[in-house]
This record gives sequence, structure tokens and C-alpha cells, in this order.
Amino acid sequence: MPDGDPHHVAIIMDGNGRWALRRGLPRTVGHEAGAKAAEELLRFIARETGIRVVSLYAFSTENWARPAAEVRFLMELLRRFIAKRIDELAQEGIRLRVCGDLAGLPEDLRETIEDTVKRTAEHRKLVVNVALNYGGRAEIVRACRELATSVADRGTAIAELTEERFAETLDTSGLPDPDLVIRTGEERRLSNFMLWQVAYAELYFTDVLWPDFGPEDLRAALEDFRSRERRFGALSQGGE
Ligand code: IPE
Ligand code: IPE
Ligand code: MG
Repeated sequence: MPDGDPHHVAIIMDGNGRWALRRGLPRTVGHEAGAKAAEELLRFIARETGIRVVSLYAFSTENWARPAAEVRFLMELLRRFIAKRIDELAQEGIRLRVCGDLAGLPEDLRETIEDTVKRTAEHRKLVVNVALNYGGRAEIVRACRELATSVADRGTAIAELTEERFAETLDTSGLPDPDLVIRTGEERRLSNFMLWQVAYAELYFTDVLWPDFGPEDLRAALEDFRSRERRFGALSQGGE
């Protein structure tokens, strides 16, 4: 297992639609190809890398703005992805977690998530954290409401509202912050992904469209990560 791999990698899986359109195919074919790419990459990560947590941005709070037919297709694809592909990956020791506002998802998807989260709870090889109906701002507001309720109803002192307490109130409670964010698909932005958690993450952008992103592309990202010096505000080693 290679030394120096990031503990937590967060991936913005972008470019499915363009991958399909450039082949003269409907966008949905791109999403299917993207799901296959995700499964193959997770298997590689579990078997060949030192990565312990992978967060996958699958559906954002903004993605509801897409045509209803595409949204429906994505919800059903996500249900199948979790029921079948994650189920198969469970044999590799994968544990499913989710982040985002699950209350806004179709009931059959929610049930599949709850079932798989429960069944894989003891798995230790790799945490796969799928972001569904997820937005960084919405997550922060939900956390603020929960903390405000705790102050108003349970007598929590204002002084107890620390960075640590705030982080524990987010959906990613208990997970380390991402060390590396990878965004595929030509854009250089975060699109509302893990705004609190990526404060000190290294950012890696690649033009490769998500359905084409494979183990060799990940290796290139990990190689690049190894060359970064993470100073966290201090001085570089040697003080220069
Ligand atoms: C990413 O691919 C998948 C989701 C956002 C659900 P896109 O569907 O955004 O693909 P492009 O950006 O249109 O190519
Ligand atoms: C980001 O991709 C969201 C996911 C990958 C789920 P988008 O395609 O939605 O992002 P924008 O619209 O280009 O910012
Ligand atoms: Mg996109």
C-alpha cells in the first residue's frame, strides 16, 4: 500500500452529460457510464491505495434545477447504484455513509440507503461517503439550526459552540476533513461541495470527463498530491 496517500479524497464527478453528448448519445447514457466508472474506481481504491475515506458528489441541492426526467433518472440510477454496485463492493470491506438532506429524496432511495448503511456499518476497509441532495451551504444552515435548538431547548452554553462542536454537527461528523479534492470535467470550481470541510484540502482539477476517469488518472492525482507541501499556515520545513 503506497505511503503518502491522502486519508480522505473527495471527488466532484463531473462531465457525464458532455461525455455522452460528444458521442451523440443521450445524457442518461453518460450517467450510466459514470456509475460504472465510480464502481471500478472504488474497487481499485479499496484494493490498491492507502485511501480510507472517499466522498462522492452524486447529486447537489442545485441539481433539482435540471429537467424532471433527468432528475428522475438520476434518482433511480442512484438507487440501483447503492442496491447493486455498493452491495457488490461491500465484499471488499466497504462501508456506506451518506451526506445531504435525505428527507428530500424519494422514499425507495431512502430505504435502500438506510438498509445498506446498516448492513455495512461494521466494514472497515474504506468508507464511501455519497453526497446526495447535498449542498455545503444547506448543510451549514442545518447544523446552525441544530446548534441553535440545542442552546434554546437544552441549555447548551454559547461558549460550547466551538469549531469542533460545529464539525460534529455536520453530516460528516466523525470523518476527517478531505485532504484532496478531485474535480473532473473541465470546470475549476467547487459547486457548493463540502465548503466547511475543504478549508485546507489540496485541489486537483482535470479535464478528463468522469466516465473516462480511471485508475491511471487517480494515480496521476495522487502523484500530484504527494508533491504538495501542506503548511497549514505555518512555515515550510526549514523555515524558508
Ligand atoms: C455530473 O455530470 C453528474 C451530476 C451532476 C449528477 P453532469 O451531468 O453535470 O455532466 P455535464 O457537466 O453536463 O457534462
Ligand atoms: C457538480 O456538478 C455536482 C455533482 C457532481 C453532483 P454540476 O454539473 O452540477 O456543477 P456545475 O453546475 O457545473 O457547477
Ligand atoms: Mg456538470
